Amino acid sequence: MEIVICRDAVEAGKLGAATIAELVRNKPDAVLGLATGSSPLAIYDELARLYDAGEVSFAKAKGFSLDEYVGLAADHPETYHNVIRRDFVHRVDFEDGNVRGPDGLAEDIPAFCAEYEAAMAAAGGVDLQILGIGTDGHIGFNEPGSSLASRTRIKTLTKQTRIDNARFFDGDLDRVPTHCITQGLGTIMSARHVVLVASGVGKAEAVHHVAEGAVSAMWPGTILQHHPHVTVLLDEGAASRLQ
Ligand code: F6R
Repeated sequence: MEIVICRDAVEAGKLGAATIAELVRNKPDAVLGLATGSSPLAIYDELARLYDAGEVSFAKAKGFSLDEYVGLAADHPETYHNVIRRDFVHRVDFEDGNVRGPDGLAEDIPAFCAEYEAAMAAAGGVDLQILGIGTDGHIGFNEPGSSLASRTRIKTLTKQTRIDNARFFDGDLDRVPTHCITQGLGTIMSARHVVLVASGVGKAEAVHHVAEGAVSAMWPGTILQHHPHVTVLLDEGAASRLQ
C-alpha cells in the first residue's frame, strides 16, 4: 500500500487525476470504477480541467459506479446515477451509455446485482477503482460487518452513514434512504489498481485502521491490505492518526 500525504485535498486530487489520466492515455478504453461523495471531487475537478485543456479524453473509456441508494426516484438529484453525471461524466466526453451504476429501482435486486457483476467482467474488469472511505471505515457502502469476500448486493446503511450523508438531503435524516446496492469488498478487490482518497480529521480513524489496523470486517477498508496495488492519497487531517 502506497500512502501519500499531500498538502491538502486539492493536491491529493491532482495526484489522483494524474494517475487516471496516464492510465486513460495509455489505454483509451480503460474501465474506471467511480465513487461519488465529496472525497473524489478534487480528482474529478482536475480531470475536467485536463479534458478542457485537451490533455485527456474519456471517449472510449467505460465507468462502473460503486453504489446507489435504493428507492430514490430516477429524477432525484441525489441518486448516484445523477450525482456522478453532474460531478464528472457530463463534464468530460464519456459516452453516457458507457457509464453504468447499480439500479436502485430494480424489481429483482439479486438478479440485477448478478447482471452488474457480469457486465463488469464482460468489460474486462475494472482497471482503476476510485474510492472514498466512510467515517466508520466503509468502502463502497460495505458497512462494518460486511463479508470480506462480498460481491454486489443490497445493504442496509448504518445510522452513522445516514447522518454523514444527511447533508445531501437538506440535513433531514428521514429523507436519507435506508438501503443501498453496493459493489462488494470482493468486487472492489478485483480491480487492478485502487486509488483511495480521504481528507479531513473525520477520516483519520478509518485511515489509521486501513493502513495500520488488523484486517477485520468491522473496518471494511482494511481488506485493502490484501490488495497488491493500492494508492492512498491523504491530506494532513486524514493522515493525523498514522504512526
Ligand atoms: C460513494 C461511496 C462511499 C463514500 C464514503 C465517503 O460512492 O462509495 O464509500 O466514498 O461514504 O463519502 P464522502 O467522500 O462524501 O466523505
